Amino acid sequence: MKEKTVYICSNCGQDSPKWIGKCPSCGEWNTYVEEVVRKPAAGTRLGSGLEPVKSKPVILSEITGGNEPRIDMHDEELNRVLGGGLVPGSLVLLGGEPGIGKSTLVLQTVLRLPEKKILYVSGEESARQLKLRADRIRPNSSDCLIACETSLEQIYVNIKNTRPDLVIIDSIQTISTETIDSSPGSLVQVRECSASILKFAKQTNTPVILIGHINKEGSIAGPKVLEHIVDTVLQFEGDQHYMYRILRSTAELGIYEMRQDGLRQVSNPSELLLSQDHEGMSGVAIASAIEGVRPFLIETQALVSSAVYGNPQRSATGFDLRRMNMLLAVLEKRVGFKLAQKDVFLNIAGGLKVNDPAIDLSVISAILSSNMDAEVERDTCMAGEVGLSGEIRPVNRIEQRIGEAEKLGFKRILIPKHNLQGMDTKKLKIEIIPVRKVEEAFRALFG
Ligand code: TYD
Ligand code: MG
Repeated sequence: MKEKTVYICSNCGQDSPKWIGKCPSCGEWNTYVEEVVRKPAAGTRLGSGLEPVKSKPVILSEITGGNEPRIDMHDEELNRVLGGGLVPGSLVLLGGEPGIGKSTLVLQTVLRLPEKKILYVSGEESARQLKLRADRIRPNSSDCLIACETSLEQIYVNIKNTRPDLVIIDSIQTISTETIDSSPGSLVQVRECSASILKFAKQTNTPVILIGHINKEGSIAGPKVLEHIVDTVLQFEGDQHYMYRILRSTAELGIYEMRQDGLRQVSNPSELLLSQDHEGMSGVAIASAIEGVRPFLIETQALVSSAVYGNPQRSATGFDLRRMNMLLAVLEKRVGFKLAQKDVFLNIAGGLKVNDPAIDLSVISAILSSNMDAEVERDTCMAGEVGLSGEIRPVNRIEQRIGEAEKLGFKRILIPKHNLQGMDTKKLKIEIIPVRKVEEAFRALFG
């Protein structure tokens, strides 16, 4: 065994034999941490102990079909977020804060897959705890195999003996390999173990779901480094105080509700995200938003009040604070509203985080509605991005947004004027109000 010290970037996982201030790979400063690594003598590299599927080069045109059969997870939200199901031989990372419901999601999913042989490796909970949780989710027993194990080598032995169709590892931070003398959860362990698991997944064509914890800052050893290794990254997010949970991949979004008996899929998010009675309330505006492929209506809530102390407070939940400040500056400069001495609080209903720029218009409408204490009519919704000069910029997939609003019984929708081009509005029952500038939107909303 040879012992050596390496320095590893805690942001991206790049290593270096000596400490450096700026990471040449990701450009972050002061991210290098010292780790002691004891490598085994050459020749005894990590191995899965399973005979690999031999590969030889093939002619591109002879490779059959681009659409590999996907494994149906029997969960519409999960299937969609995975892009149509789980790809055989892929390594999926499910990341999220502790307690958000990662183990619950995975366990309830594998309990729905009785035709598959599943090995659930838990380094966090005992078999009894898992059984209790499984009973809570669904009382009928399943033949899912449970292994409470933290040694990577032992996990491979278990895999070799049981030959599962799907492996779950809960969580990567508890697993360690004997070949490295570093504690579980350290950067080196996390990186080496996941690289080895990736190799196993590819060689045996067995899909593996890795669970990884992220702390509030998202900076703890693990998931950030892991993102470069795995095939797919899924984020499970939500507020501990809300029951909604969002499962996100780069392209898609799934919504769940945490119940006593596990997570329930939410197939019609709009109905949940609109609180029913805000009749006569100011500071509320409804946006027709799109995340992933699905349009949904969402409530933006604002509270504007005079700042008591010198510095006005600004806070945003579920919306980028810098973007909110930019929108406030637009209102101030272009429309002449005096908001500099006001506290502004913004909230997106349901604890949802929305990245869609089309909710800008509802954000400024909610802010002005609260500021003037004038209500936005209940049956009006909107979609539009706001530019720096106060112009309402066109948004993508406007037909879908209008369609969703119409489906939910809205009577009026404000849309960017540019989006009107080439649109057939004759068949629509909903009234379309095209707006070019922030001022026009205000006149339409508040008269
Ligand atoms: P868990 O899956 O253990 O979170 P993670 O694996 O991400 O750390 O979920 C923990 C929380 O979920 C816990 O506070 C209890 C709650 N919960 C329910 O509300 N309903 C349920 O059916 C289950 C199993 C858990
Ligand atoms: Mg867990």
